[in-house]
Amino acid sequence: MGKNNTEQLKKIKDEILGLKESPLYEYRIKSKYFPVIGEGNHYAKIMFIGEAPGENEAKKGRPFCGAAGRILDELFESINVERNSAYITNIIKDRPPGNRDPLPSEIELYSPFLDRQIEIIKPQTLVTLGRFSMRYILEKFDLPEKTESISVLHGKVLKANASYATISIIPLFHPAVAIYTAKSKEVLKKDFQILKDFA
Ligand code: URA
Repeated sequence: MGKNNTEQLKKIKDEILGLKESPLYEYRIKSKYFPVIGEGNHYAKIMFIGEAPGENEAKKGRPFCGAAGRILDELFESINVERNSAYITNIIKDRPPGNRDPLPSEIELYSPFLDRQIEIIKPQTLVTLGRFSMRYILEKFDLPEKTESISVLHGKVLKANASYATISIIPLFHPAVAIYTAKSKEVLKKDFQILKDFA
């Protein structure tokens, strides 16, 4: 028997803790930040993939625990699903300075950890939050929709062949867009409703 999911995920955490080759490693140490590996059910049916930790997340080592996280909490509540029944992670596991967009080289460095998390947990559904994780996942599974924009694809259910099953991919807008605009929050709330059928 192979190692259980928790042990395999712990190994990823240990590797990232020692990831000195990352351009974000020194900034993490200097700022007394933590890497954010992921949180939730290690056997989840549904995995949420955000972009990168913000300041709150890096201070606590937990994904989506700041303003965007409060929106995400509300969205889970609106469909009566426990946030902890899902697994929540990001493509980039360390905070980029000033919350700037992730660089292609950072996506290249950190995405193999996300790939491994997907292979370990084997979720039936991947929900991407924002355009960076959407783009990465659509390219990874080589979907015909991979060049479409998030304004076209948000809230749609796409099918992909993972190594372990045919899975659903559901692109959503990033919850941070809803912090200041009520209209985006309504769109997110509406899109989130379809997750009831997948949770
Ligand atoms: N934004 C993200 O993309 N991820 C987090 O964990 C927090 C904010």
